[in-house]
Amino acid sequence: MKKTWLLLLTAAAAAGAVCGCAEQAEQTEGLLPYEELAEVSDEYIVVGFSQVGSESDWRMANTASLQETFTEENGYYLLYEDGQQKQENQLKAVRNFILQEVDYIVLDPIVETGWDGVLQEAKDAGIPVILSDRSIETANEDLYTCWVGSDFTAEGERAGEWLSAYLENRGRGKEEIRIVTLQGTLGSTAQIGRTEGFARVMEEHENWKMLDRQSGDFTQAKGEEVMEQFLEAYDDIDAVVCENDNMAFGAVDAIQKAGRTCGPDGDMIVICFDAMQAALEAMVKGEINAAFECNPLLGPEVEEIIQSLERGEPVEKIRYVEETYYDTSMDLESILKNRSY
Ligand code: AHR
Repeated sequence: MKKTWLLLLTAAAAAGAVCGCAEQAEQTEGLLPYEELAEVSDEYIVVGFSQVGSESDWRMANTASLQETFTEENGYYLLYEDGQQKQENQLKAVRNFILQEVDYIVLDPIVETGWDGVLQEAKDAGIPVILSDRSIETANEDLYTCWVGSDFTAEGERAGEWLSAYLENRGRGKEEIRIVTLQGTLGSTAQIGRTEGFARVMEEHENWKMLDRQSGDFTQAKGEEVMEQFLEAYDDIDAVVCENDNMAFGAVDAIQKAGRTCGPDGDMIVICFDAMQAALEAMVKGEINAAFECNPLLGPEVEEIIQSLERGEPVEKIRYVEETYYDTSMDLESILKNRSY
């Protein structure tokens, strides 16, 4: 049993003796029962994982990837906390992990800012923090061990370059192209990178006009809502850039409900990021033109990092996962047969 847990056990017992039940519940909320923690600490590598939420298909696959990797069978004890898309929940989860003296903290930060304080606390406690999927903005890069995730800016550029080639092939290279963007959660690494990457390609195309950009918070419901507003405000939209699949599904619903068409045979080009199975299926149905992959299978990547750290080996500060894209010119039915997400 780790020393501090012993102290916590004693402290909790003391707190129980002097304060009311509600107060005690508040104090221990989110913490594993001490007896259980004590038992697992010697046997397993204890990993605390603070996830953003469950806002998208990608997120569910990402959570599953970590949960399937960090199993007791594989020698790990996983403490999983769903932040429900709120930074305050994630801050609380990380503080609880520190209190529980986990061996590693895996943090998928909802937005880039606001982490310095809690990460300093983790550092002071000697707990390595691995950032997974999204990253943070900090003046002190020593506050975290490393980051593994997607090169979101490259994804945005890939999408812009694809659109450029697509329009060129259809003889529309010089035409004015009116674009709207459904952005992800503002301030998240995925939103910042995809917006910036696409904007870089836009700079090379004077004839492309960004009519509007609004956040749909990476959810299908908000994606539909934002697209409804765009359709009301602008008559002649040529391309809809959705910063994830789920917002694209919402956008397609809004377009169809408005009696409009999209996809390769429709009057609006729809492109999105993630390229989960449902997006490829939507491409087969002719609703979406192209999807730019974001790999959710980060569990094995994080595990490799933890294993290196366990062996005392150095790890790369930034580790990008490999990604590609899909469009309707490809044999999507065959691709879908072998796709695990
Ligand atoms: O950070 C990755 C993004 O977050 C995915 O594109 C999106 O679907 C998720 O919610």
